[in-house]
Amino acid sequence: MRNIKLLLLLAAAMLPSLAMAQKFEGLAKTPQLGWNSWNKFGCNVSEQLIRETADAMVSSGMKAAGYQYINIDDCWHGERDARGFIHPNKEHFPSGMKALADYVHSKGLKLGIYSDAGWKTCGGKPGSRGYEYQDALTYAEWGIDYLKYDWCNTNGLKAEGAYLTMREALRKAGRPVLFSICEWGDNQPWEWAKDVGHSWRTTGDIYNCFDCVHDHGTWKSWGVLQILDKQDGLREHAGADHWNDMDMLEVGNGMSINEDRAHFSMWAMLASPLIAGNDLRTMSKETAAILTNRPVIAVNQDGLGVQAFRHSARDGVEFWLKPMTDGAWAFVALNRNAEARKASFDWKSESIRDPLSRRELDARQASYTLHDLWKNAAAGTTRRAFTMEIPGHDVVMVKLTPR
Ligand code: GLA
Repeated sequence: MRNIKLLLLLAAAMLPSLAMAQKFEGLAKTPQLGWNSWNKFGCNVSEQLIRETADAMVSSGMKAAGYQYINIDDCWHGERDARGFIHPNKEHFPSGMKALADYVHSKGLKLGIYSDAGWKTCGGKPGSRGYEYQDALTYAEWGIDYLKYDWCNTNGLKAEGAYLTMREALRKAGRPVLFSICEWGDNQPWEWAKDVGHSWRTTGDIYNCFDCVHDHGTWKSWGVLQILDKQDGLREHAGADHWNDMDMLEVGNGMSINEDRAHFSMWAMLASPLIAGNDLRTMSKETAAILTNRPVIAVNQDGLGVQAFRHSARDGVEFWLKPMTDGAWAFVALNRNAEARKASFDWKSESIRDPLSRRELDARQASYTLHDLWKNAAAGTTRRAFTMEIPGHDVVMVKLTPR
């Protein structure tokens, strides 16, 4: 009896050390909104760029529209010191990361950084393999709020274990950090990462084109439509605090305004993180208007947290629907063709059911008002068929509100 008691006591004492910590809950109840340096600047990152981008995020109205994170991607690194601590590149970050985080925080924004689970990042800089706890501690001391964690040079590593290790390290360091998993969907993160990170990339890198595949030889990057098509079957895995990440935005990087609008709309509909990837300091009014369209952002940020589904397609025009709070829906007609198309959607003769959210849009039973989110104009009701003329590579996007 005594022995059993002793054993029980011993087991109880061991429990806390065996128990795994959890990720920082609640940091991405809705998909994260921010900016990242990679798509436009690649390895040309500096404290000056980051400061100016933080300024521009405020002056452009993006902060007011909800964007929060300024994320430095690959190549900020200098060397590890003799004790193994990582330091930023001295030439490009002369004031150090703590001073930069203080500056970004003084603007009411948050600072993100990038590392890699392997021994080197994709850009050949020092990775975190073997230094996870030390790096997490360093980031916490600097005041970092977001970590994008990449997957280059990880031979022999198991993804789930490697990302768990970094989750534990961040937790131990104690500063809440949004953990953005980036292993390109290679290890089906949607099956294991719900409690590990706040979002996971579902595909390889985006390429700045609407409909193309860019072959780099040993790997490929993907246009907007190609990434969209790779989301099939993934919507059931996403929700508050664990999102399917369709990669950073190319809005403002050279596609046409129509294409940028369609790209932004689809990322909003599929509840992907919206991380701008353009030069915020010099962007055109048209680009800023896309990135700050609040009703479209509200579709992305809707509290129900359910991704849109492809309802049907006709003649290269796809109809997508996203159930929203208070019985509302968002609707997109996406024209994949390069030429304009006329389309019509007769609410009353369509069966619109979503088994995932158990929601139904039955226009014979209830009537909804339509609001065009890009024209910002009333667009009738569901009593009549909705007719559209959609330019090539563009969308019509409306919100339906029950009357
Ligand atoms: C990978 C990632 C990109 C970017 C680069 C940086 O390709 O998927 O998003 O972070 O590495 O080298």
